[in-house]
Amino acid sequence: MTVTNAQAGTNVHEIAAGIYRISTPAPPGAVPGGFTFNQILVVDDEPLLFHTGLRRMFRLAHVLGDAAKLRWVGFSHFESDESGALNEWLAAAPLAQAVCSRVAAMVSVNDYADRPPRALGDGEELSLGSKRVRWLDAPHVPHNWECGYLFEKTTRTLLCGDLFTQPGADGVPLTESDVLGPSLAMWKAMPASIAVEGGARAILEKLAATEPATLATMHGSSYRGDGARLLRAFAKELVA
Ligand SMILES: [Fe+2]
Ligand SMILES: [Fe+2]
Repeated sequence: MTVTNAQAGTNVHEIAAGIYRISTPAPPGAVPGGFTFNQILVVDDEPLLFHTGLRRMFRLAHVLGDAAKLRWVGFSHFESDESGALNEWLAAAPLAQAVCSRVAAMVSVNDYADRPPRALGDGEELSLGSKRVRWLDAPHVPHNWECGYLFEKTTRTLLCGDLFTQPGADGVPLTESDVLGPSLAMWKAMPASIAVEGGARAILEKLAATEPATLATMHGSSYRGDGARLLRAFAKELVA
């Protein structure tokens, strides 16, 4: 494991070609049993960071060698761990622009961000150079009206945010074994964290149709394997 920030315990692993998981454990005692906050860096001509991390963890999570090269700072939804440090990143990277859903821009980011965001509609694509990401709206899956995800086409990596959230801080960066079971157990302990209405089944099927080979999770281990199978299994659990 490469520990890039000894104080914070932040570590970096490549989970797909040119896609890096920057993982920072929650401070000791902050979350019983431990927890991780993962940011996903897509390296390309126009580098994209998915999830800003918490504003109060910004200094600690600021591990990129040259943050000024960042072009895009994306996030699934407007919440402290996803977007809390957005303005800190915009200040550190003068060329960077937020990437979010159109709803996120309308209800929060147009006002909150120090520079105007690039709002993407459902299915809209953004070229990063050799890589290309597609925005997928996912309202309320698992939470927030403005929620959505990015799918990187060349590596078939779904930046799946809070989906498949697993507890603990000791997991491996990338696994081919079960991530659904631990995430379901966590959901059942906090059922209000996931909306189960509003077309969740159709949204999960839309995500599954991308046939992801890697699921880059925000909390816990990323997953390599048949991502569509996992998303469909998750849908069965969510919707009776
Ligand atoms: Fe969230
Ligand atoms: Fe999160």
